[in-house]
Amino acid sequence: MTEAVHSIRAMLRLFEASSHAKLYAEFRPNPPASLINAVVQAVKEKLPLDRALDVGCGNGQNTRCLAPHFRSMLATDVSPEQIKEATANNTITNIEYRVYPAEEIPAPAESVQLVTACQCCHFFELPRFFAEADRVLVPGGVLALYGYGFPEPYRDGALWTELNDVIVQAQVALAGFWTHILKDVEDRYSDPRFRLPFPGEVRDESHYQERTLTLDGLLGGISTWSGFQTMVDRCGAERGEALLRQTRERLHAVLSNGDPEVDTSAIAITVRYFYFLLMARKPVPP
Ligand SMILES: C[S@@+](CC[C@H](N)C(=O)[O-])C[C@H]1O[C@@H](n2cnc3c(N)ncnc32)[C@H](O)[C@@H]1O
Repeated sequence: MTEAVHSIRAMLRLFEASSHAKLYAEFRPNPPASLINAVVQAVKEKLPLDRALDVGCGNGQNTRCLAPHFRSMLATDVSPEQIKEATANNTITNIEYRVYPAEEIPAPAESVQLVTACQCCHFFELPRFFAEADRVLVPGGVLALYGYGFPEPYRDGALWTELNDVIVQAQVALAGFWTHILKDVEDRYSDPRFRLPFPGEVRDESHYQERTLTLDGLLGGISTWSGFQTMVDRCGAERGEALLRQTRERLHAVLSNGDPEVDTSAIAITVRYFYFLLMARKPVPP
């Protein structure tokens, strides 16, 4: 077995063993500091930075970015595997992780200054989540929903179109396995059902996170896509393996300039994840 096939198998085994939680932890981006600062500043304008709630927290990537700014944080996720992953190596003492759905928040009324949901509210029953966010936020508290699109490879400060085309080909190969989620994220939550339940909603699309990945890192990211996971669930691991292998060959062809002898496994690939942020403040009664 070649090394490439071996690493694809390892990726799929990891994917099966941990219900995706470990893959998320390894291959998904953290929100950019500029976005976290924008959210924290919005709270700080009117309220003390006391307690925040991160819903759909997954392995805690967003939670850990917010925690240093607040006295304490509650972070919830419907998936026990994700919460296990979040708590396993947690050294941050002001975070409490709990397994709870977004539609049922284990916090008293008017007890938090901030509610966030990063790259997850497209999974929620939004009216019930919004009602819960409204209940737990203090007057003047901030609700912030954010997410990010597919990784876009960059070279010399410009989109690396040949490499990006390969990533788009992988998205297209998964057509039929994406749910409404793909459209929601591609549309950056512009569907009216994402409209926040408070007046004065602000949309900010100025933030991006840059990461340096290897070819395996890019493939690992693809294996966390919900369309990919659905395909493997429905059609089996071989189908996932075939797509990753084909995508690897295409990426390799671009990275090696068509020379099959070139080792592309350690080439550093810069990718940008562009974020969108929707934010609004719960009104303060007159
Ligand atoms: C793409 S991950 C994002 C995780 C994390 N917010 C981050 O930014 O890394 C989506 C998360 O939403 C969670 N999720 C999906 N439906 C949920 C629901 N109804 N209530 C709470 N969490 C949910 C999943 O378990 C998963 O951890």
